[in-house]
Amino acid sequence: MRRKLAAGNWKMNGSLAAMAEVRALCEAHPAPTVDILLCPPATLIWPMASMRHDHPLAVGAQDCHAEAKGAHTGDISAAMLKEAGATAVIVGHSERRADHGETSQTVAAKGSAAIANGLLAVVCVGETLEEREAGHTLDVVGTQLADSLPEGANADTLVIAYEPVWAIGTGKVPTLEQIGEVHGYLRAQLADHLPGDADGIRLLYGGSVKGSNAAEIFAVADVDGALVGGASLTAEDFSPIVSALQ
Ligand code: G3H
Repeated sequence: MRRKLAAGNWKMNGSLAAMAEVRALCEAHPAPTVDILLCPPATLIWPMASMRHDHPLAVGAQDCHAEAKGAHTGDISAAMLKEAGATAVIVGHSERRADHGETSQTVAAKGSAAIANGLLAVVCVGETLEEREAGHTLDVVGTQLADSLPEGANADTLVIAYEPVWAIGTGKVPTLEQIGEVHGYLRAQLADHLPGDADGIRLLYGGSVKGSNAAEIFAVADVDGALVGGASLTAEDFSPIVSALQ
Protein backbone atom coordinates (compact mmCIF):
# COMPACT_ATOMS: atom_id res chain seq x y z
CA MET A 1 0.00 0.00 0.00
CA ARG A 2 1.51 3.30 -1.05
CA ARG A 3 1.32 6.04 1.56
CA LYS A 4 -0.17 9.22 0.09
CA LEU A 5 2.03 12.30 -0.15
CA ALA A 6 1.02 15.96 -0.22
CA ALA A 7 4.12 17.88 -1.28
CA GLY A 8 4.47 21.63 -1.57
CA ASN A 9 7.10 23.40 -3.65
CA TRP A 10 7.42 26.99 -2.54
CA LYS A 11 9.78 27.80 -5.44
CA MET A 12 11.35 31.26 -4.86
CA ASN A 13 8.68 32.38 -2.43
CA GLY A 14 8.38 32.71 1.31
CA SER A 15 10.18 34.32 4.20
CA LEU A 16 10.64 33.82 7.91
CA ALA A 17 7.20 35.38 8.37
CA ALA A 18 5.75 32.49 6.37
CA MET A 19 6.67 30.09 9.18
CA ALA A 20 3.31 31.14 10.62
CA GLU A 21 1.70 29.35 7.67
CA VAL A 22 3.62 26.19 8.50
CA ARG A 23 2.54 26.42 12.12
CA ALA A 24 -1.08 26.83 11.04
CA LEU A 25 -0.80 23.84 8.69
CA CYS A 26 0.60 21.67 11.48
CA GLU A 27 -2.19 22.79 13.79
CA ALA A 28 -4.80 21.99 11.15
CA HIS A 29 -3.40 18.47 10.73
CA PRO A 30 -1.99 17.45 14.13
CA ALA A 31 -1.89 13.74 13.30
CA PRO A 32 -1.95 13.41 9.50
CA THR A 33 -2.62 10.01 7.95
CA VAL A 34 -0.70 11.04 4.84
CA ASP A 35 2.84 12.30 4.40
CA ILE A 36 3.21 16.07 4.17
CA LEU A 37 6.34 17.59 2.65
CA LEU A 38 7.14 21.26 2.20
CA CYS A 39 10.07 22.37 0.06
CA PRO A 40 10.90 26.02 0.77
CA PRO A 41 13.87 27.99 -0.58
CA ALA A 42 17.11 26.66 0.89
CA THR A 43 17.41 29.57 3.30
CA LEU A 44 14.18 28.50 5.00
CA ILE A 45 14.94 24.78 5.40
CA TRP A 46 16.54 25.13 8.81
CA PRO A 47 13.94 27.56 10.21
CA MET A 48 11.11 25.36 8.95
CA ALA A 49 12.65 22.14 10.22
CA SER A 50 13.32 23.77 13.59
CA MET A 51 9.84 25.13 14.22
CA ARG A 52 7.78 22.04 13.48
CA HIS A 53 8.90 20.33 16.72
CA ASP A 54 7.47 16.80 16.89
CA HIS A 55 5.01 17.24 14.01
CA PRO A 56 5.72 14.70 11.22
CA LEU A 57 5.72 17.37 8.48
CA ALA A 58 8.85 16.79 6.41
CA VAL A 59 11.02 19.55 4.98
CA GLY A 60 12.72 19.25 1.61
CA ALA A 61 14.85 21.20 -0.83
CA GLN A 62 14.18 22.18 -4.43
CA ASP A 63 17.53 21.14 -5.90
CA CYS A 64 20.95 19.81 -4.92
CA HIS A 65 24.34 19.47 -6.54
CA ALA A 66 25.46 16.05 -7.70
CA GLU A 67 28.86 16.32 -6.03
CA ALA A 68 29.68 16.28 -2.36
CA LYS A 69 31.80 19.46 -2.26
CA GLY A 70 34.05 21.64 -4.35
CA ALA A 71 34.26 24.78 -6.46
CA HIS A 72 30.57 25.16 -7.34
CA THR A 73 29.63 28.69 -6.39
CA GLY A 74 26.03 29.00 -5.31
CA ASP A 75 25.34 25.29 -5.18
CA ILE A 76 24.42 23.15 -2.18
CA SER A 77 25.23 19.47 -1.69
CA ALA A 78 22.79 16.83 -0.58
CA ALA A 79 24.71 16.36 2.66
CA MET A 80 24.45 20.09 3.41
CA LEU A 81 20.69 20.00 2.85
CA LYS A 82 20.41 17.03 5.16
CA GLU A 83 22.41 18.80 7.85
CA ALA A 84 20.05 21.78 7.51
CA GLY A 85 17.09 19.53 8.27
CA ALA A 86 15.90 18.37 4.85
CA THR A 87 14.80 14.77 4.36
CA ALA A 88 13.86 15.11 0.69
CA VAL A 89 14.85 17.03 -2.41
CA ILE A 90 13.06 17.79 -5.67
CA VAL A 91 15.27 17.17 -8.70
CA GLY A 92 14.57 17.83 -12.35
CA HIS A 93 11.72 20.29 -11.93
CA SER A 94 10.88 21.70 -15.37
CA GLU A 95 11.89 25.17 -14.17
CA ARG A 96 15.37 23.81 -13.36
CA ARG A 97 15.50 21.96 -16.67
CA ALA A 98 14.50 25.15 -18.57
CA ASP A 99 16.23 27.85 -16.53
CA HIS A 100 19.46 25.98 -15.78
CA GLY A 101 19.75 23.65 -18.76
CA GLU A 102 19.52 20.52 -16.63
CA THR A 103 19.43 17.32 -18.66
CA SER A 104 17.93 14.07 -17.46
CA GLN A 105 21.47 12.80 -16.98
CA THR A 106 22.15 15.72 -14.63
CA VAL A 107 18.90 14.96 -12.84
CA ALA A 108 19.88 11.31 -12.41
CA ALA A 109 23.23 12.34 -10.92
CA LYS A 110 21.55 14.76 -8.52
CA GLY A 111 18.99 12.17 -7.51
CA SER A 112 21.74 9.62 -6.95
CA ALA A 113 23.54 12.06 -4.65
CA ALA A 114 20.32 12.70 -2.78
CA ILE A 115 19.65 9.01 -2.21
CA ALA A 116 23.27 8.31 -1.27
CA ASN A 117 22.86 10.92 1.46
CA GLY A 118 19.62 9.50 2.79
CA LEU A 119 17.28 12.00 1.15
CA LEU A 120 14.06 11.09 -0.64
CA ALA A 121 14.49 12.04 -4.30
CA VAL A 122 11.41 13.59 -5.92
CA VAL A 123 12.15 13.34 -9.65
CA CYS A 124 10.00 15.47 -11.97
CA VAL A 125 9.00 14.71 -15.55
CA GLY A 126 6.55 16.39 -17.88
CA GLU A 127 5.86 17.43 -21.44
CA THR A 128 5.52 20.89 -22.97
CA LEU A 129 2.34 21.97 -24.72
CA GLU A 130 4.03 21.58 -28.10
CA GLU A 131 5.04 18.04 -27.24
CA ARG A 132 1.52 17.16 -26.11
CA GLU A 133 -0.08 18.69 -29.20
CA ALA A 134 2.33 16.73 -31.38
CA GLY A 135 1.22 13.51 -29.67
CA HIS A 136 4.61 12.90 -28.04
CA THR A 137 3.62 13.02 -24.37
CA LEU A 138 4.26 9.39 -23.49
CA ASP A 139 7.51 9.27 -25.43
CA VAL A 140 8.74 12.42 -23.71
CA VAL A 141 7.88 11.42 -20.15
CA GLY A 142 9.03 7.85 -20.73
CA THR A 143 12.43 9.00 -21.96
CA GLN A 144 12.75 11.55 -19.15
CA LEU A 145 11.89 8.86 -16.62
CA ALA A 146 14.35 6.31 -18.00
CA ASP A 147 17.19 8.82 -18.21
CA SER A 148 16.48 10.52 -14.86
CA LEU A 149 16.31 7.43 -12.65
CA PRO A 150 18.84 7.73 -9.84
CA GLU A 151 21.07 4.99 -8.51
CA GLY A 152 19.64 3.43 -5.40
CA ALA A 153 16.06 4.14 -6.48
CA ASN A 154 13.39 2.07 -4.77
CA ALA A 155 10.01 2.56 -3.13
CA ASP A 156 11.59 4.15 -0.05
CA THR A 157 14.00 6.47 -1.83
CA LEU A 158 12.19 7.64 -4.95
CA VAL A 159 9.02 9.58 -5.76
CA ILE A 160 8.09 10.56 -9.32
CA ALA A 161 6.17 13.76 -10.00
CA TYR A 162 4.36 14.12 -13.33
CA GLU A 163 4.07 17.82 -14.09
CA PRO A 164 2.91 18.87 -17.55
CA VAL A 165 4.85 22.08 -18.16
CA TRP A 166 1.77 23.75 -19.65
CA ALA A 167 -0.23 23.11 -16.47
CA ILE A 168 2.25 24.70 -14.06
CA GLY A 169 0.99 27.98 -12.67
CA THR A 170 -1.48 28.40 -15.53
CA GLY A 171 -4.75 27.20 -14.04
CA LYS A 172 -4.93 24.66 -16.87
CA VAL A 173 -5.21 21.04 -15.79
CA PRO A 174 -5.16 17.94 -18.00
CA THR A 175 -8.34 15.91 -18.10
CA LEU A 176 -8.58 13.12 -15.55
CA GLU A 177 -8.22 10.69 -18.44
CA GLN A 178 -4.99 12.35 -19.54
CA ILE A 179 -3.60 12.24 -16.01
CA GLY A 180 -4.59 8.59 -15.68
CA GLU A 181 -3.02 7.71 -19.00
CA VAL A 182 0.35 9.22 -18.09
CA HIS A 183 0.39 7.83 -14.55
CA GLY A 184 -0.50 4.35 -15.82
CA TYR A 185 2.25 4.61 -18.40
CA LEU A 186 4.79 5.76 -15.81
CA ARG A 187 3.83 2.85 -13.55
CA ALA A 188 4.35 0.42 -16.43
CA GLN A 189 7.69 2.00 -17.28
CA LEU A 190 8.79 1.72 -13.67
CA ALA A 191 7.90 -1.97 -13.77
CA ASP A 192 10.32 -2.34 -16.67
CA HIS A 193 13.12 -0.36 -15.07
CA LEU A 194 12.69 -1.29 -11.42
CA PRO A 195 10.82 -4.58 -11.22
CA GLY A 196 9.97 -5.34 -7.64
CA ASP A 197 9.84 -1.67 -6.65
CA ALA A 198 7.42 -0.22 -9.19
CA ASP A 199 4.26 -0.95 -7.23
CA GLY A 200 5.60 0.87 -4.18
CA ILE A 201 6.94 4.01 -5.82
CA ARG A 202 4.64 6.97 -5.37
CA LEU A 203 3.52 8.97 -8.40
CA LEU A 204 2.48 12.56 -7.77
CA TYR A 205 0.56 14.82 -10.12
CA GLY A 206 1.60 18.48 -10.26
CA GLY A 207 0.22 21.47 -12.15
CA SER A 208 -2.47 23.89 -10.94
CA VAL A 209 -3.68 21.61 -8.13
CA LYS A 210 -6.06 23.45 -5.81
CA GLY A 211 -8.46 22.60 -3.04
CA SER A 212 -11.29 22.65 -5.57
CA ASN A 213 -9.82 20.05 -7.95
CA ALA A 214 -7.66 17.94 -5.61
CA ALA A 215 -10.22 15.27 -4.71
CA GLU A 216 -11.06 14.37 -8.30
CA ILE A 217 -7.39 14.23 -9.25
CA PHE A 218 -6.59 12.03 -6.22
CA ALA A 219 -9.33 9.62 -7.28
CA VAL A 220 -7.47 8.82 -10.51
CA ALA A 221 -5.71 5.44 -10.51
CA ASP A 222 -1.98 5.61 -9.82
CA VAL A 223 -2.15 9.15 -8.44
CA ASP A 224 -0.59 8.92 -4.98
CA GLY A 225 -0.64 12.61 -4.15
CA ALA A 226 0.38 15.96 -5.53
CA LEU A 227 3.32 18.28 -5.95
CA VAL A 228 1.74 21.68 -5.41
CA GLY A 229 3.24 25.07 -6.20
CA GLY A 230 1.16 28.19 -5.69
CA ALA A 231 -1.47 26.57 -3.50
CA SER A 232 1.15 25.30 -1.04
CA LEU A 233 2.19 28.76 0.14
CA THR A 234 -0.54 29.29 2.70
CA ALA A 235 -2.22 26.97 5.18
CA GLU A 236 -5.59 28.19 3.92
CA ASP A 237 -4.85 26.92 0.40
CA PHE A 238 -2.77 23.82 1.20
CA SER A 239 -4.81 22.42 4.06
CA PRO A 240 -7.82 21.46 1.85
CA ILE A 241 -5.45 19.62 -0.48
CA VAL A 242 -4.01 17.66 2.45
CA SER A 243 -7.55 16.96 3.63
CA ALA A 244 -8.61 15.72 0.19
CA LEU A 245 -5.82 13.15 0.31
CA GLN A 246 -6.67 11.76 3.75
O1 G3H B 1 6.27 22.03 -8.27
C1 G3H B 1 5.11 22.42 -8.42
C2 G3H B 1 4.56 22.64 -9.72
O2 G3H B 1 5.41 23.32 -10.56
C3 G3H B 1 3.13 23.08 -9.76
O3 G3H B 1 3.00 24.46 -9.59
O4 G3H B 1 0.78 24.25 -8.47
O5 G3H B 1 1.73 26.48 -9.03
O6 G3H B 1 0.91 24.96 -10.83
P1 G3H B 1 1.51 25.09 -9.48
